[in-house]
Amino acid sequence: MARVLGASLLGIDGIPVEVEVRISAQLPRIDIVGLPELSVRESAARVRAAISSVGESFPQNRVTINLAPAALRKGGSGLDLAIAIGILVASGAVEPQATEGIAFIGELALDGRLRGVRGELAMTLAARTAGCRALIAPAGWTASASLVSDVEVFAAGDLAAVIAHLRGHEPLARQTPEARDRPTQPTLCLSDVRGQETAKRGLEIAAAGGHGILLSGPPGAGKSMLARRLPGILPPLLAEEALTATRIHDAAGLLGPTSPALSDRPFRAPHHTCTVAGLLGGGTPPVPGEASLAHGGVLLLDELPEFERRARESLRQVLEDRWIVLARANYTCRLPANFMLVATANPCPCGWWGSEQRNCRCEARSIERYRARISGPLLDRIDLHLNVPGQAWRDLAEPAGGETSAQLRPRIERARGVQQSRAGACNADLADARLVRDLKATGAAHAMLGRAVDRLRLSARAARRVQRVARTIADLAAEEQVGEEAIAEALGYREEESPGGT
Ligand SMILES: Nc1ncnc2c1ncn2[C@@H]1O[C@H](COP(=O)(O)OP(=O)(O)O)[C@@H](O)[C@H]1O
Ligand SMILES: [Mg+2]
Ligand SMILES: [Zn+2]
Repeated sequence: MARVLGASLLGIDGIPVEVEVRISAQLPRIDIVGLPELSVRESAARVRAAISSVGESFPQNRVTINLAPAALRKGGSGLDLAIAIGILVASGAVEPQATEGIAFIGELALDGRLRGVRGELAMTLAARTAGCRALIAPAGWTASASLVSDVEVFAAGDLAAVIAHLRGHEPLARQTPEARDRPTQPTLCLSDVRGQETAKRGLEIAAAGGHGILLSGPPGAGKSMLARRLPGILPPLLAEEALTATRIHDAAGLLGPTSPALSDRPFRAPHHTCTVAGLLGGGTPPVPGEASLAHGGVLLLDELPEFERRARESLRQVLEDRWIVLARANYTCRLPANFMLVATANPCPCGWWGSEQRNCRCEARSIERYRARISGPLLDRIDLHLNVPGQAWRDLAEPAGGETSAQLRPRIERARGVQQSRAGACNADLADARLVRDLKATGAAHAMLGRAVDRLRLSARAARRVQRVARTIADLAAEEQVGEEAIAEALGYREEESPGGT
């Protein structure tokens, strides 16, 4: 019996899989046992064809392949290579010692070529946990695997090359992490945006406290333009965040030879036709969706009211939990989804309600309906509501100016640092009880908020949001206490009144 190590992917976690192969003197057939999914069962046909086409003989007996641990369902075609090598070891074509301490990952084409699979980084981490010191994987897909320390990564083009390596005929090339200059994306600068000082200030506060934002205003006001400039003022990814984000992108098959790891905060802007599965992840085995791909970065839902209702509603839970749980028949997997939400919306279906440039032609009822699409529980989870008024042409003709993103960033990083050392989390993530403790509002500030709650009939949730934002405003100003000014400013970032209201 032969034992060879491979790995499988569950969500964004790699699982070491031991492939046991037994050849017995019975009629030729192949059995794969140990809860394999359909994709793994198809592996038998691919492996048989690949072994024959590289000129090795396939056993003319009964081949039983057991995937351990048997209790775990294994999906994906990434076990092909380990299964093929297991068969070759069992049939005596490859020495068992040659495969010791090596994990084999990759899908086989019928002609023996190796193909990459999703989740290479996670699987490499799993192989290391299982005690492997080397990994053989498809060439071109080994870039992210080589980021894992203590594992030697060998890149192979096809099965023949793997066999030649194991027989000591021709060693495979070792993949080393490329020493590359970090290709930080050309970040868009806030100073490109003319005017819109209030919205820019709102972005600064949002970035400093990790708050979700809703930008509303007429078409062409610069909402999308502002939203796309948020990643550029966020503090750099922490090492741990970067690793998680990289695993998520890798598990979604988005990393390749030229982008083995994430170093910048992700920015995802799914189109409004995006389905719930596209947003939250889906499929069997599960593939992360946009909300997880935005983990550690920004999820922009441009024109939020245009998203289908189920997609909008599915977000509520994610914003609360910051995790997505995908349940399948035999397992569940948890995908991280902690992102900053930026949503944009027009104030009404035609877009010009409240504008000085054009008249809104919408009926009050249709405006109510339109707004209802983003009202209530979803809106409750967005701390800052920013008005982005349309701009007069003469303002847009002015030269660009104002603070650059690079000038803003140190202030934001400092404010985040304060929050990190005080609570170990940013203000947007504070539990209510913790917020009460950390708020440190002056007596006058308390009284002011109390009056506002009465006058504006703020819900308890809305009041908490004001407190959170005020805490961030004070942190930006490096003030220990939250004063009246911070409360007053935070009160200005509540949702605007609806046309039927005051
Ligand atoms: N404040 C601004 N400063 C500079 N250019 C702007 C501004 N507002 C809008 N624009 C220009 O108008 C275009 C449309 O803006 P966009 O952000 O797409 O508007 P919205 O998303 O609000 O409909 C931008 O690409 C930009 O060229
Ligand atoms: Mg837009
Ligand atoms: Zn309108």
